[in-house]
Amino acid sequence: MTEQNVLDALKNVTYPGFTKDIVTFGFVKDVVVENTTVGLMLDITSSAEEVKNELIENATKELEKAGFEEIHVNINAPQVPKQMSNSVSGKNIAPHIKNFVMVSSGKGGVGKSTTSVNIAISLAMQGKKVGLLDADIYGPNIPRMMGVDGQKPEIQGNKLEPLKAYGVEIMSMGSIMEEGKALIWRGSMIMKAIEQFLRDIMWSELDVLVIDMPPGTGDAQLSLAQSVPITAGITVTTPQEVSLDDSRRSLNMFKKLDIPTAGIIENMSGFICPSCDEESDIFGMGTSAAVAKEFETELITRIPIEPAIRIGGDTGHPIAYHKPDSETGKRYQEAASKLWEFIEKVNTEGSAGNAGVQPTTPPGVSACSTGGTAAAAAPAKAEEGMKEASKPATDESCGTGCGCH
Ligand SMILES: Nc1ncnc2c1ncn2[C@@H]1O[C@H](COP(=O)(O)OP(=O)(O)O)[C@@H](O)[C@H]1O
Ligand SMILES: [Mg+2]
Repeated sequence: MTEQNVLDALKNVTYPGFTKDIVTFGFVKDVVVENTTVGLMLDITSSAEEVKNELIENATKELEKAGFEEIHVNINAPQVPKQMSNSVSGKNIAPHIKNFVMVSSGKGGVGKSTTSVNIAISLAMQGKKVGLLDADIYGPNIPRMMGVDGQKPEIQGNKLEPLKAYGVEIMSMGSIMEEGKALIWRGSMIMKAIEQFLRDIMWSELDVLVIDMPPGTGDAQLSLAQSVPITAGITVTTPQEVSLDDSRRSLNMFKKLDIPTAGIIENMSGFICPSCDEESDIFGMGTSAAVAKEFETELITRIPIEPAIRIGGDTGHPIAYHKPDSETGKRYQEAASKLWEFIEKVNTEGSAGNAGVQPTTPPGVSACSTGGTAAAAAPAKAEEGMKEASKPATDESCGTGCGCH
């Protein structure tokens, strides 16, 4: 038996999630053959346990088929920074979720929810286990956009089961509240709601939870960063200068909250005429590239204004799922791949920590009573249940009058 026999056998092993085999990728290293014994190293780029196990199993199977009797497949994978869980780098109240992506924008109406929906679906189509949390408590649009409006989540004990559509687990205040009901949110209620979204929803062991934030830079963003280590932040903007000004605020917020910035998605960037396919410049195009550079991040993708995107949102038929081969469908796929690469990079480097924004007050002590700032506000207790969080508060803790907010 020779090294060539080994390589020929391993050409039948594709890298999970790709069509190419591990030999073509150049992952097979240090092959040693002695009679029917073989030892080798697979030098791979993913630290996922499933990838590792699948490769060992498939490589062993192929080598056995080729006639090898003693087979040693070793894997060299990037280190999973286990210490990323908040026990070291800060707090994590949902440790079974591997990565958190905060989708934010300087203001409303720029396509934050549309982006969150289509990116979440694209990640799921790429084989990831994905959740989509609609944390925009002021304007929960995700249920309609995902086609689950009117559906109520099942209750299990004192937890809620997420809804599911397009391979994505979903939770939204819109699925819990009465339709069209307006709530006046106090800072402490926002904190409670965010905590409960993470703690009291029966999310699976997700690869990633995409979180559609309320517009702006406020209590919800701070609460989230104080509750879990955010792996990546995405800012959605439209190309007009005034929108870019707001995006700078959003990007600055990522910096302040120690959130690794994956980049900017420029939405409503040009208009592709459905009858002639010609692209016209309505709000401007590509203007956010300069802002990306300013913040040492990248312009992840540009999404044009397209009637199919709006119709997809209004009817619960997202374009990423229903028209994956359209130019826009492809751009969302590409954006999802880039985001995943970024997440893997952050995990390899172990740089997603939020220790810097954790409350400095001892557990159980309200920052209000000590006259603390918002950054030092202790997260409110979550045990009252989701319903409590959605009740207009006459609550005793951080109201607007205490100087916290
Ligand atoms: N690229 C686009 N082309 C056409 N319509 C879009 C596009 N992006 C968003 N929309 C529409 O614009 C409206 C606002 O988008 P939405 O995602 O709700 O914004 P946000 O969450 O930032 O408030 C929605 O009706 C949505 O369908
Ligand atoms: Mg929205």
